[in-house]
Amino acid sequence: MCGIVGYLGEERAAPVLLDGLEKLEYRGYDSAGICVVNGGKFFVVRKKGRVKELAGARALEGNPGIGHTRWATHGAPSERNAHPHVFGKISLVHNGIIENAACLRAQCEARGEVFSSDTDSEVAAHLIGRFYGEKGDLLGAVSAAAELLAGSYAFAVLAEDKEEIVCARMRSPLIVACGPDGVFAASDVPAVAKAGRVAYVLEDGDFARLTRGKIELFDGALRPVVREAVALEEEEVSPGKGEFRHFMRKEISEVPAAVLNSLPDLSKPEFSEVCKVLCQTKYLHIVACGTAYHSGLCMKHAAEKFARVPTEVFVASEYRYADPIVPPGTLTIAVSQSGETADTLAAAALAKSRGSVLIAVTNVAHSSLTRVADFVLPTHAGREIAVAATKSFNAQLAVLYALAVQLAKTAKCCAPPLAGLPVLARETLAASAGVASWTPYFQGARSVFFLGRGADHCAALEGSLKLKEISYLPSEGYAAGELKHGTLALVDGRTPVVAVACDEALADKTMNAVHEVYARGAAVFLVTPFSALAQAKEVTASVLIPRCEPAFSPILSVIPLQLLAYHVALALGKDPDKPRNLAKSVTVE
Ligand code: G6P
Repeated sequence: MCGIVGYLGEERAAPVLLDGLEKLEYRGYDSAGICVVNGGKFFVVRKKGRVKELAGARALEGNPGIGHTRWATHGAPSERNAHPHVFGKISLVHNGIIENAACLRAQCEARGEVFSSDTDSEVAAHLIGRFYGEKGDLLGAVSAAAELLAGSYAFAVLAEDKEEIVCARMRSPLIVACGPDGVFAASDVPAVAKAGRVAYVLEDGDFARLTRGKIELFDGALRPVVREAVALEEEEVSPGKGEFRHFMRKEISEVPAAVLNSLPDLSKPEFSEVCKVLCQTKYLHIVACGTAYHSGLCMKHAAEKFARVPTEVFVASEYRYADPIVPPGTLTIAVSQSGETADTLAAAALAKSRGSVLIAVTNVAHSSLTRVADFVLPTHAGREIAVAATKSFNAQLAVLYALAVQLAKTAKCCAPPLAGLPVLARETLAASAGVASWTPYFQGARSVFFLGRGADHCAALEGSLKLKEISYLPSEGYAAGELKHGTLALVDGRTPVVAVACDEALADKTMNAVHEVYARGAAVFLVTPFSALAQAKEVTASVLIPRCEPAFSPILSVIPLQLLAYHVALALGKDPDKPRNLAKSVTVE
C-alpha cells in the first residue's frame, strides 16, 4: 500500500510533489520517488527509505510530475523497486496490487520486454507504455491496460511528450483536485488540501485526465461523467510533538481527552435512529483489523455481560472470504481508526449485502467507511500520527462501551455508568510513569508474554501487539488459564511476563498463572487495581491502576501497556513512531 501524487500547474512540480508525499507517508515509507517532465524528457529520482531522502530532488526543474511513497507488497524495499516506473515514453506510480502480474509479466517478457524491478506495478507501466507507443493516446492506453489488469490500483501516469496526467482507480483511493495554482491527483485529501481548490473523488472504474487548468472524468467505458465536487479547506496544520520526543508518547498523553471527547451521549435526539436499531438487534457482529479488532473483543465482553446480546468479533480479512452467516436482526459494527482499511471496508460491504445494518466507528470523518455505513459513530481522538494506534483504541472503547450500555438499556438490563472513565484514565496515566523502569528486563528478553482472563485477556492482546509493532520483540497475548496447556514450555528466565488482573472474580485465577511462570524463572510485571496482588513476592514490579467495572477496565489497563511498549522500543533504539514494515492505513488486501 502506497501514496501517490500528481501535479500539473504553474509551479515547479518537484517541491509540490515532495510536500504532498510527506502528507502521505502514513501510507508507507519503504521508498519514495518522483518523476518530472522537463523539455520533453523524464527526470526521475528514487530512494530507498523515507520521503526526506528525496530532499535533493526538490531543486529539479520541470512540470508536470508524479510521485510515490511505497509500502512494499511485491519486491523488497529498495531503490530498484521504488516508483515511478518508466517504460517507453510513459512513467507511472501505483497504489494497489496487480493480482495477475506474474502472468502479464511473462507475456511481456515473451515479447522481449526487459523489466527493471520486481514489482507488480511495472507490468502496468509496460502495458501502458506499449499501448501509448502504438497510438499516442494516453487515456486510451491507460484504459486498454486497465482492461487486462486484475486486482486493485490507483495510477497516475505521465507521458514525456504530453502535458497531461492520466489517472485510474479500481479499489484503491484516488482524488483529483483543481485550483488556481494547478491540477492535482493524490491518494488522500491532506496531500492536496488548500482553500480555493475543489476535489473530486473517483469511483471504481473511473479515469481522469488532467491537463492545464482542466480535469475531465470518465467512466469505465470512457464516457464523460460528473462526480460530486468537494470544496477543500486549508489542511489543518499537522499537530507537532509538543513537549514530547515522539508522537506516540504525545498521543498516549492524550488518551484521557480522547476518551472524554469520544463518549457519546446516546440519549441525544441525533442518536434516536441508532437507538431504534439497537432495539431490534438480536446479534452483534464486529469486523475490524489490528488494534481495532482488539477493541471489538473488548466490546464483546461488555455487550454480552450487560445486554446479553450474542456477539461475534471477526478479523475483517477472514470475514470477507468466510461466507459469513448473518441472521436477521444482526447489527454489524465496523471499527477502523482510518476508515480506509481495505479489509474492513470489504467486510463491512459484505455484511450490508447480507442484510445487516452497519454502524461505522471511525476517527476520520468522510472516510470511505462512513460512505458505506448506515450510521456513523465517530471517535474524537484527534489526528493520530504514530503508526501504532494508542489513543484511538481508547476512544473506540469509549464509543463501543456506550453502545453496550445503550444495548443493555434497550434490553431492560442494568449497566454501570461510563461518565467517570475519563478521570480514571487520567489517574491511570499518572500511575503508569513507573513502567519506564521495567525496560532492563525486556532489553535482553527472548520473548514476552502478556496474560489475562476475560476482558483482561483483551488488554493483554493489545499490549502484546503494541510491543511487537514497535520494539520487534516476539510477544504473545495469552489467556492466562491456557498457558499451562502447552505454551508454558516457552517460559524461562529470559521471558518476562506482564499480567493484567483487573477483575476481582478472576484475579486469583490469573495469579495462578503468575505463580507458574515465576516458578520457571520469569520476571513478572503486574497491572492491577488490587494492592494486595501487587505486593505478592512473585511480582517484580507493578502499576496500581484505579478500580473500575471489570468489563470496562481495558480502557485503563492498556495505558501502562502502551507506555511499556514505547519505553522498550526506545531502550532498544527503535523509532516508535515509524516501525519498520508497517503503515498507518492499509488500503490493500
Ligand atoms: C494497520 C495499522 C494498525 C491498525 C490496523 C487497522 O495494520 O498498522 O495499527 O490497527 O491497520 O487500522 P484501522 O485504521 O482500520 O483501525
